[in-house]
Amino acid sequence: MRVTTLTALAGLLSLGFSTPVAPAPKLQVLHARQNATNTTAPCAAVSSAYFNQVNPSPTVPAQMAMDCIKSVPLNATSAKALLHDIRPYINWQSTISYLKNPPAEYLAKIQQAVDILGGLDAIEAKVTSGGYGGEYEFGSALYQLIQSAHDGHFVFVPDSVGSIFNFGRPVPLVSVSEDGTKLPAVFAYTDVLGSHFKNISYTPSPIVSIDGEDVNKYLENWSQWGSLQDRDALYNNVFYELAQVSLGGSGTGTGTFTGGGRGRWAYPGPTTTLKFANGTTNTFQNYARVLVSFRGIQSGEDLAKNFFYYGAAGQANLGNVNKQAVATTTTADVKVAAATASSPPGYPAAVVGGPQNLINGYYIDAPGYEDVAVLSVPNFVGDASAEIPFQQTTQKFLPKALADGKTKLIIDVSANGGGTILQGYDMFKQLFPSLLPYGATRFRAHEAVNLIGETTSAFATSYPRTVNQPNATISEAQATYFDYQTDANISYQPFTSWADKYGPVTYNGDNFTSIARWNLSDVLIQYNSGGIDITGYGPRANYTQQPFPAANIVIVYDGYCASTCTIFSELMRQQGGVKAIAMGGRANTNAIQAVGGVKGTNNYQWGYIQALAQDAVLVAAAANMTLRANASVLRDYYSDTPFTRAATAPGANVRDGLRQNDTSGVPLQFRYEEADCRLFYTPEMTVDVTAIWKAVADARWGTDGKCVAGKAGGYVRRGVEEVTTSLGKRAALGAAAPLGAMEALERSLALETEPRLVGDGFMMP
Ligand SMILES: *[C@@H]1O[C@H](CO)[C@@H](O)[C@H](O)[C@H]1NC(C)=O
Ligand SMILES: *[C@@H]1O[C@H](CO)[C@@H](O)[C@H](O)[C@H]1NC(C)=O
Ligand SMILES: *[C@@H]1O[C@H](CO)[C@@H](O)[C@H](O)[C@H]1NC(C)=O
Ligand SMILES: *[C@@H]1O[C@H](CO)[C@@H](O)[C@H](O)[C@H]1NC(C)=O
Ligand SMILES: *[C@@H]1O[C@H](CO)[C@@H](O)[C@H](O)[C@H]1NC(C)=O
Ligand SMILES: *[C@@H]1O[C@H](CO)[C@@H](O)[C@H](O)[C@H]1NC(C)=O
Ligand SMILES: *[C@@H]1O[C@H](CO)[C@@H](O)[C@H](O)[C@H]1NC(C)=O
Ligand SMILES: *[C@@H]1O[C@H](CO)[C@@H](O)[C@H](O)[C@H]1NC(C)=O
Ligand SMILES: *[C@@H]1O[C@H](CO)[C@@H](O)[C@H](O)[C@H]1NC(C)=O
Ligand SMILES: *[C@@H]1O[C@H](CO)[C@@H](O)[C@H](O)[C@H]1NC(C)=O
Ligand SMILES: *[C@@H]1O[C@H](CO)[C@@H](O)[C@H](O)[C@H]1NC(C)=O
Ligand SMILES: *[C@@H]1O[C@H](CO)[C@@H](O)[C@H](O)[C@H]1NC(C)=O
Repeated sequence: MRVTTLTALAGLLSLGFSTPVAPAPKLQVLHARQNATNTTAPCAAVSSAYFNQVNPSPTVPAQMAMDCIKSVPLNATSAKALLHDIRPYINWQSTISYLKNPPAEYLAKIQQAVDILGGLDAIEAKVTSGGYGGEYEFGSALYQLIQSAHDGHFVFVPDSVGSIFNFGRPVPLVSVSEDGTKLPAVFAYTDVLGSHFKNISYTPSPIVSIDGEDVNKYLENWSQWGSLQDRDALYNNVFYELAQVSLGGSGTGTGTFTGGGRGRWAYPGPTTTLKFANGTTNTFQNYARVLVSFRGIQSGEDLAKNFFYYGAAGQANLGNVNKQAVATTTTADVKVAAATASSPPGYPAAVVGGPQNLINGYYIDAPGYEDVAVLSVPNFVGDASAEIPFQQTTQKFLPKALADGKTKLIIDVSANGGGTILQGYDMFKQLFPSLLPYGATRFRAHEAVNLIGETTSAFATSYPRTVNQPNATISEAQATYFDYQTDANISYQPFTSWADKYGPVTYNGDNFTSIARWNLSDVLIQYNSGGIDITGYGPRANYTQQPFPAANIVIVYDGYCASTCTIFSELMRQQGGVKAIAMGGRANTNAIQAVGGVKGTNNYQWGYIQALAQDAVLVAAAANMTLRANASVLRDYYSDTPFTRAATAPGANVRDGLRQNDTSGVPLQFRYEEADCRLFYTPEMTVDVTAIWKAVADARWGTDGKCVAGKAGGYVRRGVEEVTTSLGKRAALGAAAPLGAMEALERSLALETEPRLVGDGFMMP
C-alpha cells in the first residue's frame, strides 16, 4: 500500500503554479512520527508526537488520536448528571414532536425520524448498565443522537467528541459534470486544478471507490455527518467549494470529507484509499488536529483530569488553568483567520465590496452578460461591526448596477448559513419595498417559556416602551420575545397580553405558542436588528423604489442555505415570486431542493436560555412578584454541566418558520420543496465562480440553459452567442489562490465562530 501525503500532492500542484506553495509541514512529519505510536499508552504517544512539532496547530495520525481518546474512562456519575441537566434545554427545541413523527414526505425524501427524548433515555440506561467502554463511546452516542436531527441549530458536542481532537483528511474532492449535462463524477480537487491550468502530465481520472466502496455510496453516507437536512445539499457540502472557502474560518472549509464543518467531529479511519477509474490506487493517512496542550499527558486518565470538567464538588482541578490558556490561543487564531483578503480565491474584483466578504456586488466581465449584476451573499452577518456596512453594500450596489445599465440580478446565497434575522428582512425590503414580509414564527410552548414570558412581560410593561429609556436592563427585557409587546400577531396587530401571545395551540401532539411576526416598526427594533433600521420603516421609510422586477431576479443555491438565509428565501420565493436555481446534488438527474439547511427561524445558545431563566427568577424576586407555585422548573437551569462538558456552545432551534396561508401547522423544516431548475457543477465552476453565474443567467434568461431538471425561465431572449472564455485568462484569476486558501483553512479547521449570545438565525458550521 502506497501512502501518499499532502507533500506529494503539493508537489503535483506546484506543476501548475508559478509560485509553488510550500507543502504543509504537518503531513511531512507524519511519517517521522509513525514510530511514536505506543499502543499501550496512546495518549503518551500523542504527547510525544505533539512535542516533536513546532507547528502552532499540531496534528497527529488520526488513529493515534482515536486510540488516545478511547482510553479516557467513563465517569458514569458525570454522564448521568449531564444527561439530566441537558433535558431542560432540549425542551426548547421546537421540532421535538415533528422529529419523532414527521410528515410522510419528509420521511420519504429528507431524513429519518428521530426520537430525541427516547434516545436520551436509551443512552442513560446504557450508562447505568455499564454499556459504554469510555467517555468517547458515550460522548459520540450523545453527539450522534442530536446530530441525527439534522438541524443546524440543534447541536451538542461533548468534550470527548470535540474538545481534544478534530479529524481531517488531506484530499479535498469535487463532484463535477464534464459539460454540465453528463452525470457528475468525483475528482480530487487537485486534479481539477491541474487540468484547469493544463500542465499536469497525466489525464485526471475520476474516483470510482473509497475504502473499497462505491464512491457515490460512500460519499452519500459520509455526507450525513453534515449539519444540513437535505441529502443533495449534504452531498454538495462534502466537497471543496469556492463560496465556503470565501468565508475563511466561519465556513465549512474544504468540505466535510476533509473535516470541514461538522466533518471535523467524524472519525475518518486511519487512512483513506482512493481508487481511480484508470486503475491507480492511492492511500492517504488521515490526521487529527490536537486542540489542547498534551504537556505531561501520559494516559486517558491524565487527559480527563486536565480537560474533562465533570462538575460537582471536588472538581476544582488543575484543568481550568489549561483550558483558559487554550481558549486564549484559539481566540487569537480566529482573529488571524477572520482577517480575510480583499477578493476571495476564484472570485473577480468586487464592484461594491462589503465587510469581511460576507456580501459583495459583482459584474460578469464577459460578452453576453453585460446586463447582469451579481449580489453574492454567503452570510447574513454574525459580527456587530459588520451590520451597518452589510446593509449599506446592498444599498449602494443596487442603484449603481441600475445606473451602469444592469437589468438583471443574480443573488448568490451559496454557503449562506444565516446570521442576523432582520438583515434577511431588510434585504428583502430593499428589493421589494412595497411588500409586507410575512415571516410567521412560533416557539414550543412549555412551562419555562410561559414563566419567563409572564415575568418578563410584567416587568417590561411597567416601564414606557421608548427608545429613550436610559436603563439598558429595561430596554433589553422589552426587546425580547418574552415581552408580549415585542412582535405582532398573525394579522400583524399587537398582542394584548402574554397569555394571548403564549397560547398555546396544539399540533402533532405538542404545544406551540401563537404565531408571532417581527414588528418591523417597533421602536426597539435596533436591539434585534444589530443596530440597523429596516428599509421601508422609520428613517428609511423613503426607500420605496423597487430596483428590479421579480422576473429579472434569480437566486442561486448550493443547498447550504440555512436559518436567516431560509427566511430570506421564503420571502423572496413565496412573496416576491423570484425563481430559485439549485446547483450540484447527487449523481442523478432528479429535481432537487434549493434550500437544504435548517429552516427554523431562530436559534438560542443554551447559555442564553440559562440567563433568561435565571433572570426571570431574579426579576420576580426584585419586583416582589410571586412566581407561580410550580415555578421550580426555572431552577433546572442552574447547573453548568451542560456547558463545562461541551466542546462548543450548545444550541437549540427555538422558533419554527411557517408558511403563509398554511393551516397544517407543519414547520417549514419538514417541508420538501424543489428548486425551479437544477444545474450541475462543472470543473470550471470549482475554480472560477463566474462560470456558475453565467450558467445561472443562461438558465434563467438565455435560450441555452442547462437545467437538468426543471426550468427556470428563458423568458427574456438574450440573443447573444455563448462565448467560450480562454483558459489563459482564467489562470490569472485562480493561480495559487485556491491552494493558499486551502492551507489557511486547514489551519483554521478547528476554529469556531462565536455568534452573539442571544442567538439569531445562525447555523454553526
Ligand atoms: C504550469 O503553469 C504555470 C503557470 O502558467 C507555469 O509557471 C509552470 O511552469 C507550468 N508547469 C509546467 C510543468 O508546464
Ligand atoms: C521507525 O522504526 C523503524 C523500524 O523499527 C526504523 O527503521 C526507523 O528508523 C524508525 N523511524 C523513525 C523516524 O524513528
Ligand atoms: C509505552 O508507554 C508506557 C507508559 O508510558 C511505557 O511504560 C512503555 O515503555 C511504552 N512503550 C514503548 C514501546 O515505548
Ligand atoms: C466523576 O464526576 C463526578 C461529578 O459528577 C465527580 O465528583 C468525580 O470526582 C468524577 N470522578 C473522577 C474520577 O473524576
Ligand atoms: C490515474 O488517475 C489519477 C487521478 O487523476 C492520477 O493521479 C494518476 O496519475 C493516473 N494514473 C495514470 C497511470 O495515468
Ligand atoms: C455510514 O456511516 C456511518 C456513520 O455515519 C458508519 O458507521 C457506517 O459504517 C457507514 N457505512 C458505510 C457503508 O460506509
Ligand atoms: C435598571 O432597572 C433595574 C430594574 O428596575 C434596576 O434593578 C437597576 O438597578 C437599574 N439600573 C440602573 C443602572 O439604573
Ligand atoms: C391580532 O391582534 C388584534 C389586535 O390585538 C386582534 O383584534 C386580532 O383578533 C388578533 N388576531 C388573531 C388571529 O389573534
Ligand atoms: C399541552 O398543553 C396542555 C394544557 O394546555 C397540557 O395538558 C398538555 O399536557 C400539553 N402537552 C404537551 C405535550 O406538553
Ligand atoms: C432617504 O433619506 C435619507 C436622508 O434622510 C437619504 O440619505 C437617502 O438618500 C434617502 N434615500 C432614498 C432612496 O431616497
Ligand atoms: C395568502 O393569501 C392571501 C389572501 O388570499 C394572498 O394575498 C397571499 O398572496 C397568499 N400568500 C401566499 C404566500 O400564497
Ligand atoms: C419587596 O419587598 C420588600 C420587603 O418584603 C421591600 O423591602 C421592598 O422594597 C419590595 N420591593 C419592591 C420593588 O417593591
